[in-house]
Parts: sequence; C-alpha cells; structure tokens
Amino acid sequence: MNQTLVIIKPDGVERGLVGEILGRLERKGLRFVAAELRTLDSDTAAQHYAEHVGREYYENLVRFITSGPVMVVVVEGPPDTWQVVRTMMGTTNPLESAPGTIRGDLATVMAHNLIHGSDSAESARREIGIFFPQLVS
Ligand code: PPS
Repeated sequence: MNQTLVIIKPDGVERGLVGEILGRLERKGLRFVAAELRTLDSDTAAQHYAEHVGREYYENLVRFITSGPVMVVVVEGPPDTWQVVRTMMGTTNPLESAPGTIRGDLATVMAHNLIHGSDSAESARREIGIFFPQLVS
C-alpha cells in the first residue's frame, strides 16, 4: 500500500511541532492526501490501539492520545510508504532513536514520542479506515 496513517500526538501539537514534522515528510517527497486536527474520543482511540489491549502501558496510551488535539494525516508516496515514515520517525523510545530521526532529534520521553505511524501495510489500511473511511474502498 502506498499510503499510511500518521498521527502527530498531543505533545507534538502542544509543542508547536506540526510544521516541523510534516515539513520533514514533505521534504522527503511524500504527499498529504488528507489531514485533520481533531481531539480523539476514547472509543476511537480504543479502536486505533486495539492490538495493544492488555499491555501495561495501554491505559496511559489511550489517556494520552485523547488528552488534546492531534493532527491526523494520510501520507502517500512510493511502495511501502509506511516503512519510509517509520524510518523517519525513529525507534519507539526517543532515547534510543538515531539522530536525524523525528524522535531522535525532538523527543526524550517514551510516553511523549510525538508521532504515530502505521507499522505495516495492513495496519495502514485499517487505520486509514478508522479516520478517513471515504479513502478506503
Ligand atoms: S510499535 O509502534 O507498535 O512498534 O511500538 P510498540 O513498542 O509496540 O508500542 C506500541 C504503542 O505503545 C506506545 N508505547 C508506550 N507508550 C507509553 N509508555 C510506554 N512505556 C510505551 N511503550 C510503548 C508506543 O509509542 C506505540 O504507540 P504509537 O502511537 O504507535 O507510537
């Protein structure tokens, strides 16, 4: 799939990093197909993070993602665009993310790691369907 879902989390919006993060994706050559600033309700967050139910951080994850506005973006590019975005994001723990990545350059806290990106083509399709159902046939 050549599209993937990106969410700039509440910390990214609060810190005024939306332009910085989306600018990196644009400069890479990726394009935006849809974008919306919205505050997620707990049902939508639970649907989005369904695969993580039962993990010790699950409650915190849902509480945080619903704590303020997020920027939800469908990003389009070459085959496996989800992988391009994940590489640019850096590893989950910002303290271990390489310099040059979004988390490596801009974050230090695991729970406040700025950005979500779909972790497979299948996840991308499922997640785009949650936020922009009109884009998934
Ligand atoms: S991933 O992206 O699915 O490969 O990452 P994973 O390590 O499996 O983590 C799944 C999501 O949980 C978030 N996470 C945490 N949040 C708060 N505290 C702790 N300790 C923690 N560990 C993992 C991680 O950022 C993933 O959320 P998203 O929104 O996808 O980044």
